[in-house]
Parts: sequence; C-alpha cells; structure tokens
Amino acid sequence: MSVLILGATSPIARAVAEEYAADGKSVVLAARNADEAEAIASDIAIRFEVDTFARSFDALDIDEHDAFVASVEDEAGPIEVVLVAFGDMGDQEASEEDFERARRVIDVNYTGAASLSEAVARRMVERGAGSIIGISSVAGDRGRKSNYFYGSAKGAFTLYLQGLRNRLADDGVHVMTVKLGFVDTRMTVDLETPIPIANPAKVGKAIARAQGRGVDTFYYPHFWRGIMGIIKAIPESIFKKLSL
Ligand SMILES: NC(=O)c1ccc[n+]([C@@H]2O[C@H](COP(=O)([O-])OP(=O)(O)OC[C@H]3O[C@@H](n4cnc5c(N)ncnc54)[C@H](OP(=O)(O)O)[C@@H]3O)[C@@H](O)[C@H]2O)c1
Repeated sequence: MSVLILGATSPIARAVAEEYAADGKSVVLAARNADEAEAIASDIAIRFEVDTFARSFDALDIDEHDAFVASVEDEAGPIEVVLVAFGDMGDQEASEEDFERARRVIDVNYTGAASLSEAVARRMVERGAGSIIGISSVAGDRGRKSNYFYGSAKGAFTLYLQGLRNRLADDGVHVMTVKLGFVDTRMTVDLETPIPIANPAKVGKAIARAQGRGVDTFYYPHFWRGIMGIIKAIPESIFKKLSL
C-alpha cells in the first residue's frame, strides 16, 4: 500500500508526505519536475526510513492520467491515500486579456484535478477502500473580481469532490475536501494581509490528522469557516461594489 502525493514540490504537500512517512507508509512523490521529485523522495526515504518512489506527471496531460496512476500502482502497490495538492493561481489580469491563460488555470485546478481523482477513485472502488484528499481553497466559496478564474476552478473542484464523496459513500472510499485559507508558500509571496498566514508544516499535520479521522470538509486554519460564512452571507447587491 502507498500514499500518492500529486504536486510534491508544494511545501504543504511535502509536509503531508512527511506525516505519512513518519507513520511508516510508503510514499510516491509526483511532481512536474522529475529531478525535484527524486530529491524530495530521497530526502524522505533517508529521514523516515521508508520506501519512497519519485514520478513525474503534468496535470494538463489528461490523456495520460489513467496510465500514470496504473504505473504508480504497478511500482508502489495499491494507493491507500492520494493527496491532490497541485494548483496554479495564474494571473487574473493577464487571464482577462488572454483566455488561453484563464483556460490553463481552469484546466490545472479543475479538469486535471478531477481527471486524476477519477483515475484513482476507479481503482479504490474496485478494492472497496481508500482515501482521496483534494486541496481546494476558500477562494472557491465566493467569486471575487481579484481571482475569479482560480476561484471558479477551485469552486468547481469543491463541488466535484462533494459529488464524488456522495457517490463513493457506500463503496468504502473516503473523500475529503480541504479548504485552505492563506498559507506561507510560493503562492502567497506577494500577499499583504492582516489575516494570519498559516505555516505549511502545521497545515500538513492538520490535513493528515483530519484524513485519519475521516473528516469530509476541512477548513484550515479553522477560523476561515467563520470568515467565509460572513463573506457568503453578504448580499450580492452590496458584494458587487466591494473590493475584496
Ligand atoms: N498557499 C495558499 O495560500 C493556498 C490557499 C488555498 C489553497 N492553496 C492550494 O494549495 C495547493 C498547494 O499550493 P501551494 O500553496 O503549496 O503553492 P505552490 O508551492 O505553488 O505549489 C503548487 C504546486 O502545484 C504544482 N503544479 C502547478 N501546475 C502543475 C501542473 N500543470 N502539473 C502538475 N503540477 C503542477 C507545482 O509544481 P511545480 O513545482 O512544478 O511548479 C507545485 O507543486 C494548491 O492546490 C493551491 O491552490 C494554497
């Protein structure tokens, strides 16, 4: 049995991988860049004394996803847990000028994420066991002018995971939606906000623990559930005039 980490160069994904490795699990580190995946896999193997595997994949290579998942299972054994962690915030203003850029954001965060989740889900259903963790975002809870391509793709992924959870509820397969607020990664380097930014190591620990408890939807940091409750309750007539 193995844990598949998709988007292993993300510090959040890496922290989740380390939690499972600390628990003695074999971990497959998959990233776009094969050398980086290899370096992360070697580091985890040495520090945690577990079997690790390095693989390269691209969320945009939809036609290859099924074969990719099959080859991961051939090499590392049945996938017990998959973390769908990759994502691309893109550039909202550039995407407004050039829809190809918007399409890329939609395809990475939604189409690619759903395609890989389906490929893994199919195999988990056959075995009647497994856990799928999808990293979504609070940005998917309400459309905003500052990031609506990314937000809508994450919102679609959130709904996809909700439907998948509903479909697989009687098949022994757990599906967890992680709605992250701000986390200190490449994605937030330019962010200036009075809201506290979470540490990726703490996020990783919280995600692995929540998966172990069989949680369905998980806001982290937890206060984001309250913030988004308020943001979602603002009437559209007022919301459309705000700059959030
Ligand atoms: N940081 C936040 O505040 C925040 C908030 C809410 C949700 N999230 C979500 O958290 C997850 C992790 O992001 P992060 O914050 O850790 O940012 P990050 O360091 O930029 O990680 C993003 C990851 O996605 C991978 N990726 C991008 N496009 C890909 C593609 N076409 N195929 C395969 N992998 C691809 C990147 O790989 P490369 O190394 O090859 O670029 C990287 O591993 C993402 O889903 C993100 O949307 C983050």
